[in-house]
Amino acid sequence: MTNPSLLILAGDGIGPEVMAEVKKVIAWMDTAKGVTFDVSEDLVGGAAYDKHGVPLSDATMAAAQEVDAVLLGAVGGPAYDDLDFSVKPERGLLRLRKEMDLFANLRPAQCFDALADFSSLKKDIVAGLDIMIVRELTSGVYFGEPRGIHTEDNMRVGINTQRYTEAEIERGARAAFELAMKRDKRLCSMEKANVMESGILWRDVVTEVHADYPEVELSHMYADNGAMQLVRAPKQFDVIYTDNLFGDILSDCAAMLTGSLGMLPSASLGVPMANGRPKAMYEPVHGSAPDITGQGKANPIACILSFAMALRYSFDMGEAATQVEAAVEKVLADGARTADLMGPDGGTPISTTDMGDAIIAALNA
Ligand code: IPM
Ligand code: MG
Repeated sequence: MTNPSLLILAGDGIGPEVMAEVKKVIAWMDTAKGVTFDVSEDLVGGAAYDKHGVPLSDATMAAAQEVDAVLLGAVGGPAYDDLDFSVKPERGLLRLRKEMDLFANLRPAQCFDALADFSSLKKDIVAGLDIMIVRELTSGVYFGEPRGIHTEDNMRVGINTQRYTEAEIERGARAAFELAMKRDKRLCSMEKANVMESGILWRDVVTEVHADYPEVELSHMYADNGAMQLVRAPKQFDVIYTDNLFGDILSDCAAMLTGSLGMLPSASLGVPMANGRPKAMYEPVHGSAPDITGQGKANPIACILSFAMALRYSFDMGEAATQVEAAVEKVLADGARTADLMGPDGGTPISTTDMGDAIIAALNA
């Protein structure tokens, strides 16, 4: 049997720092679990641009198509702000998502008990929070044509197109219903059917797919109301299914409910490959954080939890995934805090590497 394979694209900013801590967990899988991953590493984002003049080389794209799972750190930074749109670091990430056809983006937002005081919302509103946002990731206004900036009557016009086929809405909906079946069996679909035709189609298709999942309680909400409900009473939700743009915004909002963006993992899944595993990429929801890059301040937990999602969704190692998640919960309960988790009472933050080491120690305990 061949070893499971991983491609690490640490990327820019704090990406390499947090990924270094994930490598410790990969090594732990080897020594403690006897699971050896074949790990390769390559460049993405600004790091790839610096070397190749593009944010993702064709060779790296091809390698990503071959492995069982891609682990991505973060892309972007101020040094690349003025680059032409076509070679911006973010384009590398979007190319991976599009060409690997990673249509279902799973973004869990869970509030760890030890951090309930850290949210910008009151503790009782977020304590025990456990929701899952499923964001459609390969279509919608991020990719729709026509797009661009042109001039009409001496006036510049910027265009992007929100476009969804029923097949695109349907496959994401199935992923969301399947997840709901494994959770609390409640799904809330969010769109803007009051003003957008694509939203009307979205609502229709999700309702049709519901016929195959009668045990799931389905509700519909306008996305603006959804944003409001997420900060008013987030625990009313179990699984949320929404489009690419609304999902980008609503998931940042949901992330902050948990106390820090440094805690939130994500999985982007596509169709099954020949070996039965889905095409997959795992990445923290946080970005490259140029303001703290290179200072040992970054919180590696989102990236480590992303690897835990890889264990669960790509490799069917749910037990190991749960162990990693429990180790994170344990170190937080014991008071380990990176700088982003200082909360109202202050305290002394530990470094990125110390947090990684503490998680490994908890795994070995
Ligand atoms: C995210 C990010 C990306 C997005 C950027 C970096 C292209 O915000 O994954 O949420 O907009 O999808
Ligand atoms: Mg985002």
